Amino acid sequence: MAQSDQKIKPADIFDKAYQFTAADDVKALGLYPYFKPLTDTDGNVVVIEGKEVIMAGSNNYLGLTNDIRLMEAAQKAITKYGTGCTGSRYLNGTLDIHLELEEKLAAFMRKENCVLFSTGYQTNEGAIQTIAGRNDIIFSDKDNHACIVTGTLLSNGRTVRYYHNDMDHLRKLLEREGPSTGKVIVSDGVFSMSGSLARIPELVALSKEFNARLYLDDAHAIGVLGEGGRGSASAFGLLDEVDLVSGTFSKSFASLGGFLVGDRSIIEYIRHHSPAHIFSASMPPANVATVLKALEVLQEETWRLDRLEVISNYMRKGLKELGFNIWTSQSPIIPVVIGDLMDCLKFWRDLFEEGVYANAVVPPAVPRGQSLLRTSYMATHTDAQLDSILDAFRKVGIRRGIIDQNGHSLIEA
Ligand SMILES: Cc1ncc(COP(=O)(O)O)c(C=O)c1O
Repeated sequence: MAQSDQKIKPADIFDKAYQFTAADDVKALGLYPYFKPLTDTDGNVVVIEGKEVIMAGSNNYLGLTNDIRLMEAAQKAITKYGTGCTGSRYLNGTLDIHLELEEKLAAFMRKENCVLFSTGYQTNEGAIQTIAGRNDIIFSDKDNHACIVTGTLLSNGRTVRYYHNDMDHLRKLLEREGPSTGKVIVSDGVFSMSGSLARIPELVALSKEFNARLYLDDAHAIGVLGEGGRGSASAFGLLDEVDLVSGTFSKSFASLGGFLVGDRSIIEYIRHHSPAHIFSASMPPANVATVLKALEVLQEETWRLDRLEVISNYMRKGLKELGFNIWTSQSPIIPVVIGDLMDCLKFWRDLFEEGVYANAVVPPAVPRGQSLLRTSYMATHTDAQLDSILDAFRKVGIRRGIIDQNGHSLIEA
């Protein structure tokens, strides 16, 4: 063995893990906000570390996770079908209720066909990987969700990313491509950190002008926005103009799983080609039955959507008036920008002590210096709970020097 070889310490693939101490460092300071177990919950109020706090960080937009009708539907499905499907939809894992849900969702979304996936993440990852082939190009918003990014990385197509919601940049990128390349524009309908909407009328116009297909990930918009909760494109009266719309069941639908709707042949193609669909077990019966019931409730109890809109406006106005920077939120997701990472974790802890749980979001999920508390609201939040959330933000914001008493921001972020 050469002398120089003896000196080199052999690489260990685990070195990065042994050197990862950031989580332990923050835990030692008592500021670690992640993986906190909820030991009890009624949806609105949860128990963490033995303390009751108002949940202001859930995607349970319609407030249905603890609805007795959904819980009973799930229990009945378990009694009838068992606890799991133990196989892919392709083979032994299709139940009659999977087909019923696909039919009902296609009808609800006014599209020809629907395919279910076992998570929302798999839906976008699997569908995007499958539709973009070797000669195709994906135009993806820079702020798109991680599952879209994964889908683009897995696909054999090329991907170009346009600046967030920047339609001039998207146009320039589209102009560079010739007519022989298959094109799809992919965007979140509502962006999951900022709560802002995609520029759907412009996306539709550009997709038509450049003969590109349009794909929206409406995880945070179906059951939230648009006519009867049909999502972001519907909010602009443009649902017909979007080729593919995906949704998730982990938010408004109070369950787990995801779906994609579109024209019959496209959905059939994805159903028969997507590895994430073919090589993964299907949604368990309880999850499917929960979504079927949630879809029914969504259509019957339209007050939930109305209330969601009213309280989102109320909270946006309230947080803004207190002096907080809430970015460009247009939905029940309202970020409160704190700026520095450690300041954000301290704010999170103080807020918790004041009886409110919100999600601490730090880089790389947001740009450096833009750490934030991501708040989100549910149709079932009471007025008193909303005011308690505002009061807690006011107290902590002043104490931590983020806002002053007169409703001014004291930070640059
Ligand atoms: C925009 C967006 N798409 C997809 C997903 C993935 O959904 P799920 O958590 O149901 O897998 C999320 C989850 O947060 C999301 O925010």
